[in-house]
Amino acid sequence: MIKHLRSAADLDAATATLILDTAAEMAALSGREVKKLPALRGRTVVNLFYEDSTRTRISFEAAAKRLSADVINFSAKGSSVSKGESLKDTALTLQAMGADAVVIRHSASGAPHRLANWVDGSVVNAGDGTHEHPTQALLDAYTMRSRLGRLDGLKVAIVGDVLHSRVARSNVLLLTTLGAQVTLVGPPTLIPLDVAAALSEKTQVSYDLDAVLPDSDVVMMLRVQTERMQDSYFPSAREYSRRYGLDMLRMRKLPEHAIVMHPGPMNRGMEIAPEVADSPRSTIVEQVANGVSVRMAVLYLLLGGK
Ligand code: NCD
Repeated sequence: MIKHLRSAADLDAATATLILDTAAEMAALSGREVKKLPALRGRTVVNLFYEDSTRTRISFEAAAKRLSADVINFSAKGSSVSKGESLKDTALTLQAMGADAVVIRHSASGAPHRLANWVDGSVVNAGDGTHEHPTQALLDAYTMRSRLGRLDGLKVAIVGDVLHSRVARSNVLLLTTLGAQVTLVGPPTLIPLDVAAALSEKTQVSYDLDAVLPDSDVVMMLRVQTERMQDSYFPSAREYSRRYGLDMLRMRKLPEHAIVMHPGPMNRGMEIAPEVADSPRSTIVEQVANGVSVRMAVLYLLLGGK
């Protein structure tokens, strides 16, 4: 088993499949009245969040607690210390406390990689800048597999703000490792040429959502991340929505069995219409529930569970 989960590229097909299978066993637990397992009793998991989070943070905390670990939540919001220094100082503190695993979310791409040099415990990337978010990709893959029965050969369209999306990057890496066919869809300004080129052997790029939908098993809508945009990437929200938003009319172009995903938080009415988000095809709430099982599996396996 790997020691850290910093990138979806850390996972080969066998390891990723082991995590998904273990997550399925963990999911069976959530149906029981007593949801706790003693697996990580006496171990310490630190949640180190330098950036806002609702789902991911709660999910990691619930996962660690269900495995009986001691959980320390560290929120760095409001800290004015410069990034590199504060991260190293914090890492040394965590090291002194004997953290067995550190779950980190940070606005700087690569922060989990640096952290892994300073602590002895396992490092789990919970989102670093615009770089990666590997447990999100795992929970997305888990959701696809449980809804559609397989990943190999699945046609997945990832739509929208690919440029700023760590969710997209991790999903491309993981899904192609597991045999899915990924098409990135969005305005040319939001599909970085370097990403497209680096992945071109395994992924396709399209600027026409309507053309891609009829041949997709999964459509994953991405949040338009205005907080990361220094330039204007499209004429207006209305124009973006008209071309790349998923509304009811567009959703009907999907095959009968296809599912609609979104990692949250959503801009309802922008990249996804409220009726689509709340439709039976949407797996958005399921993704959140699956996130706990997947993160249990990750913590359990990284910390040496058998
Ligand atoms: C995403 C994130 O923070 O990267 N959300 C999540 O973790 N569920 C996606 C986003 O912010 O748009």
